[in-house]
Amino acid sequence: MTKSNKPHLRNPRSKQSLRPVHIVGTGSYVPERVLTNADLEKMVDTTDEWITTRTGIKERHIAAPEQCTSDMAVEAARRAIKQAGVSEKDIDLIICATCTPDTIFPATACLVQQKIGAKRAAAFDMEAACSGFLYGLEIGQQFVTSGTCNTVLVIGAEKLSTIVDWEDRNTCVLFGDGAGAVILQSRGEDHGILTTCMGADGSLADLLLIPGGGARHPASKESLSSKMHCIKMSGREVFKNAVVAMQTAAEEALRRCNLTMTDIKCIIPHQANLRIIQALADRLDAPMDKVYVNLNRYGNVSAASVPIALDEAAREGRFQRGDLILLVVFGGGLTWASCVIQW
Ligand code: ACO
Repeated sequence: MTKSNKPHLRNPRSKQSLRPVHIVGTGSYVPERVLTNADLEKMVDTTDEWITTRTGIKERHIAAPEQCTSDMAVEAARRAIKQAGVSEKDIDLIICATCTPDTIFPATACLVQQKIGAKRAAAFDMEAACSGFLYGLEIGQQFVTSGTCNTVLVIGAEKLSTIVDWEDRNTCVLFGDGAGAVILQSRGEDHGILTTCMGADGSLADLLLIPGGGARHPASKESLSSKMHCIKMSGREVFKNAVVAMQTAAEEALRRCNLTMTDIKCIIPHQANLRIIQALADRLDAPMDKVYVNLNRYGNVSAASVPIALDEAAREGRFQRGDLILLVVFGGGLTWASCVIQW
């Protein structure tokens, strides 16, 4: 290579120190159609009473057949972009956390990039089941804090209705569709994302999975007839592990920030089951009025649960600028994560 055509190399981090990272906009979207427990009573052998007492869920939103995960992600992203007061052209990176991408590839994040016209943005999906949004938030945060990116769009979006076995009462009552998004930037002030913790235990992978459709069991007549493309879950085992994992993750995040539960204004946990959330609050010694719950209206929206709840809690004024909030999640993998933010 001659001197003249050598690429101009520059380490983008070389003159930057670590910067504080802020959530400068939030947005969420759920599809119009509501599926109530009464509707489910007509589909499987269940009752509103069973679903309500065992899970806390009353209804969930279901996407239209033609509405893809990327479409819901775009709606949530546009709302977050508007609230942040940034332009699509400012976005350097799009991370979409989902376990229900439009296609195995290309990434749903790339489809969002095109649909919103974020022409400068790099884009990729990441999958950590229900923990995906906090994993994505941590990744996005690293790009902003290092100075590699100035504006990152992190999305959690799911069309779980496409991977639910609508004849299996053990799982079909639990899930819904929707999307949530945040815009990350560094805006100078000291507050922002204070810490993020992540963890995983692959030895428990079989507790919660979709066995078919990947390299192990590619789509076949047999995989279709045995419903291997639908969620399989050992509910009781997931329940027990979820409580312990979220407690450990929440305590670790508080410890790293030298905080106690009394410092926290609002807890936003993964919205899978009200009994899991109550058990977590109990173990953390947190009163339930500190805990934001919306699973009664949406069910478990996997990676979209926390960003939808964060957006709603912020809009409802559940915390103000400067307040400390705790996000905590768990999901298939098993995976878990937590995050403390000074709003
Ligand atoms: N309606 C009526 N009865 C039902 C239903 C239903 N929808 N579903 C299950 N039952 C029955 C079971 O068949 C069982 O009957 P049996 O005793 O005759 O066998 C009985 O109710 C009790 O079942 P359990 O599994 O003991 O019920 P449990 O109280 O544990 O609640 C639940 C089940 C709601 C699934 C709970 O275990 C749970 O929430 N687990 C965690 C699920 C979760 O959070 N998943 C996260 C997924 S996240 C991700 O990464 C996608």
